[in-house]
Formats: sequence, structure tokens, C-alpha cells
Amino acid sequence: MSPREFERRRKQIMRMMGKGGIAILPAAPVRKRNRDSEYAYRQDSDFLYLTGFEEPESVAVLIPGREHGEYIVFCRERDPVRETWDGRRAGTEGAVSDFGADDAFPVSDIDDILPGLLERCERVYYTMGVHPEFDTRLMGWVNELRAQAGKGCHTPQEFVALDHMLHDMRLYKSRAEISTMRRAAKIAANAHCRAMRTVRPGMKEFEIEAEFLHEFRRHGSQPSYNPIVGGGANACILHYTENNAELGAGDLLLIDAGCEIDGYASDITRTFPVSGRFSAAQRAVYEVVLAAQKAAIDKVKPGNHWNEPHDAAVRAITRGLVKLGILKGRLPTLIKEEAYKPFFMHRTGHWLGLDVHDVGDYKVGEEWRELEPGMVLTVEPGIYIAPDAKGVAAKWRGIGVRIEDDVLVTRDGCDVLSRSVPTDPEAIEELIQAA
Ligand code: GLY
Ligand code: MN
Ligand code: MN
Repeated sequence: MSPREFERRRKQIMRMMGKGGIAILPAAPVRKRNRDSEYAYRQDSDFLYLTGFEEPESVAVLIPGREHGEYIVFCRERDPVRETWDGRRAGTEGAVSDFGADDAFPVSDIDDILPGLLERCERVYYTMGVHPEFDTRLMGWVNELRAQAGKGCHTPQEFVALDHMLHDMRLYKSRAEISTMRRAAKIAANAHCRAMRTVRPGMKEFEIEAEFLHEFRRHGSQPSYNPIVGGGANACILHYTENNAELGAGDLLLIDAGCEIDGYASDITRTFPVSGRFSAAQRAVYEVVLAAQKAAIDKVKPGNHWNEPHDAAVRAITRGLVKLGILKGRLPTLIKEEAYKPFFMHRTGHWLGLDVHDVGDYKVGEEWRELEPGMVLTVEPGIYIAPDAKGVAAKWRGIGVRIEDDVLVTRDGCDVLSRSVPTDPEAIEELIQAA
């Protein structure tokens, strides 16, 4: 993503803040995995969105209208020894020359500099509660000013939730963001096709997971969440990540896996037969989920409300469960009483972006939000019939199906970014059998 894109975002948020405001964003902390090992570093999404800067121990500050520069970065200084051990650093010079900062200071000097910047402002835009250690430091700087009130020090009067404004911006994807998300969707879609071509009875779930990791990494991407690779009844565990069971010839395999490019996620689920042919019962359940997904995607268009795709999926799934004989009763009553919930217990989708479950309000006041061009969401209905489901015929038990695509709202409808991996059962069977 070009430096221009980040500059445009900073300008936009600064316009919204107005003069007298100061926004403060800390980078994500480094997190220990065990003893001397750390988890792979992932920048905080809000910080990344406004800076494009991927280094830890950084703080971004925006002060609209500040004469000596509106965008200030605190970051680690260059240090040949540390860089030999831990990797390259931009340093304060790089923060200015490569990342567009007007001014940059060593992060070790922040205690001396930030209170002075705060003192000149009226409103502090900050997201409380996400990085608790930094919350405490910020309160410390503010208290320092308060303590000096007698000496004529000024303290900002208002604290404003930065996330509220920023997350609304993040909901509308720019052209550059859409093209990045298209790439993330394409790479993950290819990986799903590769899994279909690779799968054989007797393989372990982790062998299929490995195909995803290979496909993601060879394109410079990485998983956007822990892949779910669940064979047979494991598909009925929504967040199954053990991925260590053997795949049987008669099993369905549910895979929920997506990747991340420049921080932007894809999130795709496909469910397919390990042996290359759906059983009659598997196919019947699959077709209900597919009909629900199509009905939901049909509702993704500008002017429709957030909940319309979900309502359409609920209706199709309930109708399907009646047709299969799993539910009995009148459709409107079953929907009203949420009789589908034991089998479809999650929502039909979520916003997608820098976070897999991306930011942005789903309601405006009491009303579901209207869909608008540039928003990206997932559409992911499913049916999960637990192996011990009560009152359900044995032939359905242990079947779990989800189909999930990434969908962009366009001016006249929608665009399924992940469409290159088939959902049609025949096309899926063909892909598995052709290998
Ligand atoms: N992979 C998480 C989700 O589908 O929401
Ligand atoms: Mn998913
Ligand atoms: Mn999802």
C-alpha cells in the first residue's frame, strides 16, 4: 500500500478531530509465547491503518493544525547491535523519510516529550482498554500535567473514543484496500482448491492444514486466523483447531482458512467429501446450506440492511431442516421460536478487513445498518448436527457443513471476492476426483 494511502487516512481522521485535538495510538505490544520465545509480531490494526508502520514499541501522534508538524512518531532508534540480533529498524530518520512522519523521536524520550504535546490540546482521542499498560502510562502523563496546574499547566478537558471514528472509516474500503483483499481472497481460494485436489482417505487433518500454510507462505501471506480443518463430526465444533484426526473415506471435511496480505484478511470455508463423492445425506444437508448462502448473498446490495442476508439464511435453513424432516412445524413459527438454533447457532457473517472479525457498528441507533458500496462482509451459513443430537435420525448425526465467502458491496449489488473456489457440489466432486 502506498504512503499516499496512509497519508490520506491520517488527513481524513484529522479533519474529523479538528483543531485542539490530539490522537494517540500505541503499537501492539510484543507477546511472549514461552520463556525466550515470542509470538510472531502483529501490529495493532488501528495503528497499522494510519501508519503502515509494522514495528513494535512505537507510538503515533496526530495533532491537526500543529505548526511544527501534525504527524509525530515515537519509535526505536537505529542500533547496530540490536539490529544484528532482532532485525532491521526504520529509526527516527526512516519514520520520516519512508513513513511520512513530520517529526520522529526515540520512544525512550516519550516521557519527556508527550506531556508537552498533550498540554497544548483540548481533546484527547484515544482508545481505552485495548492496551492496558499504555492506558496507565497515558493517565500518568495526564496526571503529571494536573499536578502542575498550580504552575499554570493546562490539561486537556475531554477524552474522546478514537475507535468510534476510526472504525467507521475502516468499514469503507478504498480501491487499494479492495485490491489487497481481492489478492488475499484469491490466494486463500487457490489454497482451498489445492486442499480439494490433495485430500485422500487416511490422511491426517494437519496434512491438509500444511497445504494451506504452504500455499499462503509461498505468496508472502500468512494465516489470518488459526485454520479449522475438521473431518467428520469435528466439523460440528465451530472453533475446532486441533487438526490432528484421521480423515475417513466416508467423512466430510470442513475447512475454514484464510490468509492475510498487508494485514488484510480473507476468511473462506468449504466443506467437501474426503473420497470425492457426497453421500445422499451429506449432499442433502450441503444443498440446504448452499441454498441459504445463495439466498443470503442475493441480499447483499446497497440499501439493504445488515440483517437481511442473515434473515434470508435463517429462512432457507429452517425451510431445509423441515424438508429433511429434522424440524417439524410451520415455517413462521419455527423461525419465530428459533427452532433452527441447535443446528445453526452463529450469525451469517461479519465485517471483514484488517481484522477477520472487522470493526464497524452493525446497528445505527436501534436500526440495523444499511449496506453501502465499499463494505466487505462474509456470508457463512452452516448446519451442524452433533453426533449425539437428540430427536434426529441417525443418518444426519455428525454432519457439519459451512460455506463461507468474502463479499464486497458494490454500487449495484455485490462481488464475491472468493468465488474462484467452487461451491457447486458437482464442481467440487470433479475437482477432488480429477486429482
Ligand atoms: N474464521 C472465523 C469466522 O469464520 O468467523
Ligand atoms: Mn471463517
Ligand atoms: Mn468468518
